[in-house]
Amino acid sequence: ASDDARKPRLHVLLHSGTALDLASSRPGDRSPWPGGIPRLRQPPHAPSRSAAKLDEAIHTLLTAEERTQLLREGMRAADLGAAPGGWTWVLVRAGLRVSAVDNGPLKEPVLGHPQVEHLRADGFRWQPARPLDWMVCDMVEQPRRVAGRMAQWFREGWCRNAVFNLKLPMKKRWEETRYCLDLFRAEAGELKALRARQLYHDREEITVFARR
Ligand SMILES: C[S@@+](CC[C@H](N)C(=O)[O-])C[C@H]1O[C@@H](n2cnc3c(N)ncnc32)[C@H](O)[C@@H]1O
Repeated sequence: ASDDARKPRLHVLLHSGTALDLASSRPGDRSPWPGGIPRLRQPPHAPSRSAAKLDEAIHTLLTAEERTQLLREGMRAADLGAAPGGWTWVLVRAGLRVSAVDNGPLKEPVLGHPQVEHLRADGFRWQPARPLDWMVCDMVEQPRRVAGRMAQWFREGWCRNAVFNLKLPMKKRWEETRYCLDLFRAEAGELKALRARQLYHDREEITVFARR
């Protein structure tokens, strides 16, 4: 309770009875959570455990101000690769109306929800009739293909904000991440924000937040 957020924090890692590592972290350049792990509760009734990934992304990649400004009731979103509906559920709970794009089936409570339109379509071909506030994408595909398509969404002005996942390959993960982020940046057009993290809830991928 007496922790002062303006002060540096001491980190101690005890290797054994005779060896330890000491480190300090600066305010503004460290995780606010103990051990760097956000203890977020699974959104109640979520159709899949993936819901926790988008929840963590929203809490990790957006500032508190962005969360209130950019995620508001009545906004419109698309969820590419939506089934069974965990990410859609996170957006629905924030008050958004969601076009859930996936050939696979959605589960309750997303299935038949009045804020959700289920579109059985290819997420790499589908595009919205008018610009959306949000696009989120969790399609399992080659990261380069995903990065290219996400850039097209921004270049064409189909969305203002996006959270998308780049599934990491078995080898050369850093090189692939760099390649995909560079490709996205080069092809997306002007961006106000581009942030990427490997999240606690899925270490096999990189999660990206972009804002036009
Ligand atoms: C990891 S799951 C998504 C889980 C979802 N985010 C959730 O929270 O429940 C990946 C989904 O991507 C879908 N998918 C893969 N390729 C796709 C494509 N080309 N178009 C639409 N959906 C696709 C799959 O059908 C699968 O349902």
